Amino acid sequence: MFKKSDVISRLIFVLFAAILFLMVLGGRLFTNIEEDVYVSEEENRIVVGVSQLGSESGWRTANTESVQNAFTQENGYFLIFNNARQKQENQIKAIRSFISQRVDYIVFAPVVETGWETVLQEAKEAGIPVILMDRKVDVTDKSLYVTCVGSDFVEEGQRAGRWLEKDLARRGMDERTVNIVILKGTQGSSSQIGRTIGFSVVAANHCNWNILEQEYADFTSAKGREVMEVFLRKHPDIDVVISQNDDMTFGAIEAIRDSGRTVGIGGDITIISFDAVNTALKMVSRGDINVDIECNPNQGEYISQVIEMLEDGQEVESQYYVEEDVFTIENVTRELIEQRNY
Ligand code: AHR
Repeated sequence: MFKKSDVISRLIFVLFAAILFLMVLGGRLFTNIEEDVYVSEEENRIVVGVSQLGSESGWRTANTESVQNAFTQENGYFLIFNNARQKQENQIKAIRSFISQRVDYIVFAPVVETGWETVLQEAKEAGIPVILMDRKVDVTDKSLYVTCVGSDFVEEGQRAGRWLEKDLARRGMDERTVNIVILKGTQGSSSQIGRTIGFSVVAANHCNWNILEQEYADFTSAKGREVMEVFLRKHPDIDVVISQNDDMTFGAIEAIRDSGRTVGIGGDITIISFDAVNTALKMVSRGDINVDIECNPNQGEYISQVIEMLEDGQEVESQYYVEEDVFTIENVTRELIEQRNY
């Protein structure tokens, strides 16, 4: 028979062995920092850390896919991807992790424009070039990033305004009071700020454009519906909805229809949307959405071209805008809808 003290010391031994085993296992499972650097050095691949801001919209999913398709092993990359789930603190954590993993490039889509100085300074001190994707940052020191690849959001907002100008003139409504509500995207994001500014520049030329209310709806369908329901309860006489992305538009249209009103061409409420994803283009072709201002999510390829230029030691521009169009029932073709895979 064992003595009591023997049993205790055996138990302590087993406990220590188990802890040691778990620490080794944990290290192998969760610490891939050295392994990532090893891949970069030994296989001569370019290591890119991408911080995506979230997955709030169909557009965002397409943007993520475009990055994942561009930074593949076959193209000579090793991609470390992080989804920040709409939280700036998660993006800051991801960027710090990329710095500690000594990636070759950091690509990130900032959820909002402000609050990035400290972490970008850390990247700069580590000698890691930062490329902004989709949205911009508001920093005084422009050397904190190399370039931005994305959309001209102010131009997108102006396109919406210019389309409305023409449409009202065509319908002989350019003198009459036009009641407008605006569903805005994530507060403080470049797309929300730019589209709001762009539209208001055009709206300022029309004293008959009556902006009843504008509210943030986070670029999501659920929030778009919720905010639209409130608008409809408060304002029985809405003529135009400007919805800063397709997902909010989908939610808003549901709310409008549930309230007994109709949308689109010949309907009670004119719908102006942004993004031009596949489902929205189908709605444009049916006349449910009057106009969709395109926002192009296919930015991965552009960014990899920028990286190639940097690898060749070439100078790059401070801003690259992607190509975008404006879609109405007149120019949405079946081929376009078939080709639009997002
Ligand atoms: O910043 C681009 C915007 O963000 C897109 O319009 C929207 O769908 C996305 O969530």
